[in-house]
This record gives sequence, C-alpha cells and structure tokens, in this order.
Amino acid sequence: MMNFKELTTQLLDWYDRNRRELPWRTETDPYRIWVSEVMLQQTRVEAVIPYYRRFLQRFPDMRALAAAEPEELLSVWQGLGYYSRARHLQQGVQEVQARYGGRMPDSREEISGLPGIGPYTAGAILSIAHNKPEPAVDGNVLRVFSRLLVIREPIDRLPVKRRIETTVREMMAGISRCGDVTQALMELGALVCVPRNPRCDSCPWQGHCAARLENAQDALPIRKAPALPRIVHVVTGLLLRDGQVLTVQRPPRGLLAGMWEFPSVESSDSPGTMADAERLLQERFRELGREITVLSAGQSLTHIFSHRQWQLRTFFCRDRAATIPGSVDAGRWLPLGRIESLNWAGPHRKIAAGLVSEMGKQIHEKGK
Ligand code: ADE
Repeated sequence: MMNFKELTTQLLDWYDRNRRELPWRTETDPYRIWVSEVMLQQTRVEAVIPYYRRFLQRFPDMRALAAAEPEELLSVWQGLGYYSRARHLQQGVQEVQARYGGRMPDSREEISGLPGIGPYTAGAILSIAHNKPEPAVDGNVLRVFSRLLVIREPIDRLPVKRRIETTVREMMAGISRCGDVTQALMELGALVCVPRNPRCDSCPWQGHCAARLENAQDALPIRKAPALPRIVHVVTGLLLRDGQVLTVQRPPRGLLAGMWEFPSVESSDSPGTMADAERLLQERFRELGREITVLSAGQSLTHIFSHRQWQLRTFFCRDRAATIPGSVDAGRWLPLGRIESLNWAGPHRKIAAGLVSEMGKQIHEKGK
C-alpha cells in the first residue's frame, strides 16, 4: 500500500528546492492560469514564456480578451501555432462573461463545459487557481506514474488514466497545496522523470519507484501501437488549355480544408484500369461543368499523412466539349507560370511542379 502522505511530502519538498521560476507560477488568477495551460498544451515552456508575457500585457483580463478583434488576437498569437487554441480561448472567455458574469466557475462540471477545456486543463485551473483536489493528468504525469507504479498497460488507455487520476486525488487529499502538487508532478516529469535516460538519482521518489527497483524505467511507459494509416486511392485529372490548368479548392472543412488541388476522386479501392479511372474523372469533371476524356496516364505518387496515406495517380485529360450547357463553370484556370501563387493541398504542389517541368521539356523538344 502506497503511503500517499509521504509521497506528497517528498514531492513538495523537492519542488520547493528545484522548481523553475516561470511567469505563471506567481499567478493565481484563473484566467492567467488558463492562458498558460492553453499555450503549454502543444508548445515548450521556453517558447511559451515571451508569448505569455506579451499576451497578458495586451489582454490583462477576460474582459480585454473577450472584446479583442480576431486580427489582433491572431497577431499576438502568431508564431505559437495551432491558432484554433486562441479562438477557443476567446470563445471560452466570452462564455464566462455571458454565462457567469465574468467570474470563472470553480466546479469541474462548469469549467469542462467551456470551449477548448478538456479534463486536463480543467484539472490544472481547478488545482492551481482554486487549490481544489482535482488532478490534471497530461503526458508527463502519465509517464511519472507509469514508472512509479510499474504500469505495463498502454498509458493511452482510459482505465490507466483513470487509475492515475485516482492516485493523484489521493495524494491531494487533506493537503493545502493542491496546485503545487499539480505543478510539481509536471516539473518532475519535465526535469527528472524524462522520457529517455531518466535522472533517477535526483528523484525524490527513488525509494518508492517500482520501475527503478526492477530497472524497468527505460521500458516505460508503454503506448498502444499507432493505427496503420488508412490507404486512400486518389485519381487526379490534369486538364490543360492554352498554358493553363484547371484547379479547384477543397471544401472548407476536413483534411487540407480550403487548399487548392487538381480535380480528384478519392476511393478505398484502386481503380484497376484506365477506363475505370476515366469513368471516375468524367463524373468529377461533370460536377465542374466539363465533359472530358482521358488521354494518358501521368505520374503516380504516395503521400503519407498521420492517419492516412494517399496513393495518387494522375491522368492527362482533354475537354470534349466546352462548358456543359446550364452548368456552372466551376474551378479556376491557373497559368502554369503561376503555380507558386496557390496554397496547394499536400502533394498537389509536387504534381504542379512536375507539370511545369514536363511542359518545359515538350517546348524544348519542339524547338529543336
Ligand atoms: N506544462 C503544462 N502545464 C505546465 C505548467 N503549469 N508548468 C510547467 N509546464 C507545464
């Protein structure tokens, strides 16, 4: 049976002696803690510090952020990346103004209902700003406990996370420094119980750590094997006319939203023959108001995203007729000399570049 009291005391003693001075560590205003946690979600501590200071100078309280123009918010956030975090933060602050009269709620249920706040951020705000015994379990904390308790199950499984949350709750029970427990666990994960070559000799829990006793610290934590990317076959049509090529914009939501590409059809099966590919492309081009035939196959390429893989084959097409009567003339004709001007969807930039060099070669051949 773990002696939680002893673990907590050792952790907080270590934290008091080793903590880094970070700008959010002198704050208890929930808004200021919220901003820090949102910034720290996908960005390293050192990179966050200047942005955090600048952000709070410009938006010192929820009222200022709630009233900010989107362009101004973007200009202050620019460079941190993942701009949707800033938008959610502003929506959350606006909701606190509208629903709670500008006072940050202090229950997990209410805080978790705000945009952009998941279980981790809720726990961080509740423990750090409100000093409530609420766990904030992120990747660092999962790693620390997977070693302390030798958890050989994948840490990305929900029951493992629940078990660790329960352990943190027990460590916080009856103490007055819940926020410091949250920060100390993160600090231990960041400075000592690091992913590779953990510095066990400096660890306040070296006498309790089951992984260290078994010399298993380097093998932990265990993660689920990532799912293999799904293969998606993409048939792409290249329709050229007078030194221009037809391009279309992807839908405003989903993968590569709003970016430009050559008219394409995605399918889970490979189009076996050129006739199959032609049929798919004829349907797609009809949506754009054009009747086409396929002339020849162009290049094939593979592009790997995190969850899917495109196997893409291109086909040169010819307009059989001008715009289909009564249909819209959709898409944009792009001069081949201006391919740099578009925000291309993934591998379509490479196809465009290939097209330009192919055309250049043909002109060169003709000129000989
Ligand atoms: N990472 C996430 N939250 C943090 C915090 N409050 N301090 C240091 N690193 C963190």
